[in-house]
Amino acid sequence: MSGTSSTSSTSSTSDITGTNGIKGTAELLARVEAAQQQGEQALAGAPTTADLKAAEAELLGRKSALAQLNTCLRDLTPEDRKLVGQAVNDARAKLISALANKKADLDAVDRARALQADRLDLTESLRTTSPSGVIQDRGHLHLVTQTRDELEDTFVAMGFSVAEGPEAETDWYNFEALNMPPAHPARGMWDTLYLKLGAPETVLLRTHTSPVQIHLMENQKPPIYAVMPGRCYRRDTPDARHLPVFHQIEGLVVDRGITFGDLAGTIEAFTEAFFGPGMHSRLRPSYFPFTEPSAEFEVTCPICGGDGCRTCSGSGWIELGGCGMVDPEVFAAVGIDPEEYSGFAFGFGIDRLAQVRHGIEDMRILLDNDLRFISQF
Ligand code: DAH
Repeated sequence: MSGTSSTSSTSSTSDITGTNGIKGTAELLARVEAAQQQGEQALAGAPTTADLKAAEAELLGRKSALAQLNTCLRDLTPEDRKLVGQAVNDARAKLISALANKKADLDAVDRARALQADRLDLTESLRTTSPSGVIQDRGHLHLVTQTRDELEDTFVAMGFSVAEGPEAETDWYNFEALNMPPAHPARGMWDTLYLKLGAPETVLLRTHTSPVQIHLMENQKPPIYAVMPGRCYRRDTPDARHLPVFHQIEGLVVDRGITFGDLAGTIEAFTEAFFGPGMHSRLRPSYFPFTEPSAEFEVTCPICGGDGCRTCSGSGWIELGGCGMVDPEVFAAVGIDPEEYSGFAFGFGIDRLAQVRHGIEDMRILLDNDLRFISQF
């Protein structure tokens, strides 16, 4: 430390040799100012509150540059001591205030970061992203289920109730009570899947929803105004227009004085309600064992609106299902007096309806679970 001499001292300051080897008031003042500037820079550059805490200890603590400068005061003249002491106090105050400002800034950043981390996204979105960043599409009801729901809604609005029955049936419900005694040739209209239960060919998977009519009439006295949707099974090879597992909806009305006119009017009202204004229905003679007379009903082709197209083979009409007046033999099977009551019934395929309505070429795509198809509906 010896040999250092002040060259910058002025007449207003006296030379000293302090314990730190600092000589001269001017130099002390310069050091105070340098300590303040360096301190302000260090505070401004502190990236986190933890860094700020470390800087606080270094700049204002007992071993800080300002604290060391304070120890030099005792060697100064009272006048210079006051001068340098005041400078040290000012510098300290400035650093304390800079520290408080910086701390407020960093606290605000920390708070914003915590809020962002806790944020709940309450916005509804059709597309959601999994935590791993994969886009997940929300599911929705299958086209066939949507169609079934729409059919139910339409019939309920027309005053019908909705009933259901079992998919595994006995021969009696699926055939015999529907006026098809054993070996009746009309049984050949339905290729049947039998279950290995009881005597051979006595328990089966229902081939249509007509057996639900029987359950309903067994359990409920007329008047009956009901539709019965559900899954059906046939021993069919799948092709563009057939599925071995498919869906039908059955309709049954039993009341006093029900006529064929009521049947035709109901089918027409349903056609307009379901397909929209301008869509019509027509009946053509047919045969079903459980109705007499029987008819097939057709509706305006939903693809061309009746002008004629590939879907309706140019006729403007699409065949939808069967219908007719409930056969007195069916009433006899469930103990309803055909002299007192009459009724009509109808039934049609839900998958087939969806197919013609949306112009689906091949029905098998309904079972493929291919999202490129499913998500179009
Ligand atoms: N069950 C018939 C079928 O699967 C459809 C049917 C025709 C139902 C006439 C009826 C009806 O209720 O009266 O082909």
